[in-house]
Amino acid sequence: MSGKYSHNAIKTLFSADTIDTRIREIGKAISNDYAMLTPKSPLHLIVVLKGAFIFAADLLRTITIPCTIDFIRASSYGSEKTSSGTVTIKHNLTVANRHVLLVEDIIDTGLTIQQITAELMAMKPASLGICSLLDKPDARKHPVDITYTGFIVPDTFIVGYGIDYDERYRELPSLGILDS
Ligand code: PRP
Repeated sequence: MSGKYSHNAIKTLFSADTIDTRIREIGKAISNDYAMLTPKSPLHLIVVLKGAFIFAADLLRTITIPCTIDFIRASSYGSEKTSSGTVTIKHNLTVANRHVLLVEDIIDTGLTIQQITAELMAMKPASLGICSLLDKPDARKHPVDITYTGFIVPDTFIVGYGIDYDERYRELPSLGILDS
């Protein structure tokens, strides 16, 4: 992987072109599946910060139906490579009667998305889907029903394209495996 970090430290998993192609496919599927929605009742994307911000920006521009966007802050990893087991969630959302699609960068143990889903379901959306760029099923501890998945990945530490290790590597245009 090129860039300012050591070339040996990160092994490219998905190039920027590969990511772009896959996101266009997901955007098309979402546009087809929610085609009945109107400007009065648009698809409401809720982006899980920080990691999903780049994915969401690219995905949004491939969706051809009316949509709106909002953000939720969730974090559990801190400076570690494993989840702390406690998810901090911050938001000021209104989702009642709206068709909501959560946008995540990666689903690992499943704890973050499970807790967000529980909070949002209590607010009675019309529907609640999950779109995750990456799915790491071998790390799952909490079951999650993912509606749209970009790529299945191995149980390794992945960085780039919005995903960090200790707040670094988010700006890399591709996704790669960080050496331990
Ligand atoms: C990461 C990632 C997901 C979550 C997935 O967020 O962006 O939200 O962890 O892990 P889980 O399935 O084990 O819960 P993180 O806590 O690192 O915050 P960040 O997005 O701000 O980097």
